[in-house]
Amino acid sequence: MSARKRVGVLISGRGSNLSALIEACKANNYPAEIVCVISNRPDAPGLEHARAAGLGASCIDHTAYPSREAFEEALDKALSAANVEIVANAGFMRILTDFFVSRWRDRQLNIHPSLLPAFRGLDTHERALNAGVAISGTTVHFVRTEMDSGPIVAQAAVPVLADDTPDTLAARVLEAEHQLYPHALALVASGAVHVDGDRVVRDRATDPVPALFWPPLENPSPQN
Ligand code: GRF
Repeated sequence: MSARKRVGVLISGRGSNLSALIEACKANNYPAEIVCVISNRPDAPGLEHARAAGLGASCIDHTAYPSREAFEEALDKALSAANVEIVANAGFMRILTDFFVSRWRDRQLNIHPSLLPAFRGLDTHERALNAGVAISGTTVHFVRTEMDSGPIVAQAAVPVLADDTPDTLAARVLEAEHQLYPHALALVASGAVHVDGDRVVRDRATDPVPALFWPPLENPSPQN
């Protein structure tokens, strides 16, 4: 097998997607390895997950820098020093400027808890519920300057239940995120996909899966 791609994970908080990526990287045939974890917040619980897994984890505190660009320069320097090849944002809550985004163009991934391009930005689940969608989900995409936009690598869909709150929907989506992110990172790291302009092209034919229907298809029965 060719060398594993070196991944730097950017976090700001809880780090459950980071943990899912750490787990995935334990498989011998996984095409990527995490070589550094960087948080912009010193108190991010995810830093502890990284250290517990024996990974290099550090904080580059954005509040210590006079400008976004100065912060991003420090971030870029740290990633380059670790010979990172792919940056994976996992709950990283800083808006990145064109300086950083263009440096890592087509080499930086993000996960967002909706079926993009729907519900970009914050309060995703609340807005999905207010819009009355029957299906929500999660997206892994390459990062572009516009928030939560960029070529889509992979998506997973989950049903929205009648009694969902933003929290219950978030929990269902998060479970899907933990499967989707390792899958999408593997697609990118193994070279199974590549970016062509605004779209991701899959280089191998894949058998389609059946459609998700929600509410599910059922035999029509007469109403009494
Ligand atoms: C996830 O829902 C992710 O999609 C969003 O922020 C959340 C991060 O969760 N970008 P965690 O820190 O990975 O647990």
